[in-house]
Amino acid sequence: MELKKISFASDNNSGIHPTILHAIEQSNNGHCFAYGKDPITQRGEMAIKKEFGQDTEVFFVFNGTGANVLAVKSVVRSWQSVICAGISHLNEDECGAAEMAVGCKLIPLTEKNGKISVEQIADHLTWLGDEHRAQPKLVSITQPTEYGTLYTPEEINELAVFCKQNNLLLHMDGARIANAAVALSLSLRASTRDLGVDILSFGGTKNGMLMGEAVLFFTPGLTTETKYFRKQNMQLFSKMRFVGAQFDAYLNNNLWQHNASHSNQMASILFEQIKDVPNIQFPLPVQANAVFAIIPTLAIERLQQEFPFYVFNEKTNLIRWMCSFDTQKEDVIHFASRIRETMLSL
Ligand SMILES: Cc1ncc(COP(=O)(O)O)c(C=O)c1O
Repeated sequence: MELKKISFASDNNSGIHPTILHAIEQSNNGHCFAYGKDPITQRGEMAIKKEFGQDTEVFFVFNGTGANVLAVKSVVRSWQSVICAGISHLNEDECGAAEMAVGCKLIPLTEKNGKISVEQIADHLTWLGDEHRAQPKLVSITQPTEYGTLYTPEEINELAVFCKQNNLLLHMDGARIANAAVALSLSLRASTRDLGVDILSFGGTKNGMLMGEAVLFFTPGLTTETKYFRKQNMQLFSKMRFVGAQFDAYLNNNLWQHNASHSNQMASILFEQIKDVPNIQFPLPVQANAVFAIIPTLAIERLQQEFPFYVFNEKTNLIRWMCSFDTQKEDVIHFASRIRETMLSL
């Protein structure tokens, strides 16, 4: 079946990078113990430890929602709360998974360009020790944010220092952390652990992997129950070698960097091509692999007939155009010219 070649809907609308597919195929040659007790899974774990530090604790899971939920479940009890952006995937796009699995309260904050601040978190630390209030335990941020924007390293570090001072843990939803790291010209470790992040949901699916994410714990003492919660929450993959093989290939060939640089660059080209088109507003800076814009309803309808993309906010007509590791430059140029023609024809 022939699928659409050009889409700006999401980086997880793309297929699998050939290097990843090859790594899966190479691992498909016999029997080995299941549930991660095999040499290929160990290779994947070693690749992660090489990147993030040997004492990193690694838990492979199926998907990004599972990674976020396992991160929360590991450190938060039902009487505690998680402070996050209202727009965060954890709060808005996981069908209440964390609330169900952990039974805790999420405290969604009004974000600014996708980001939350120390001052906002501080506002929720006034009733500590009061049994009538859910007690804040974890702050969760997304990097890049759901709006394709970036926390600066200083902002992350400020959040981390504040969390440590206030007995909170800092979780980062890094479903697209590769895009952030390359945009900031930092290593994966320097953009996460070294800034004070305690727990990372380390994604690869959106950047060329087939499936499988990893929850990484950098701070000791947080994982005494994690392996049980992973199984109980249906995130323990029996044929785990195929996740390990992907992470091994993803990290050892610098594929993460290559793919993320490419998708970021495609978004940047798209923005450059259309930034002067009349009547388009760009309410958010383009900092990773997504371009957000506000365009009239008629333009949305016409463009969507040719190119799949999502409307993020139906009230404001905020739309998202997202680039992927396999987005072609000529397709970006073509799309940009169709945007221009469409806008001029209204
Ligand atoms: C910021 C963010 N976190 C996590 C996820 C994980 O989602 P999934 O459970 O679909 O793998 C996504 C997917 O869109 C996302 O955008």
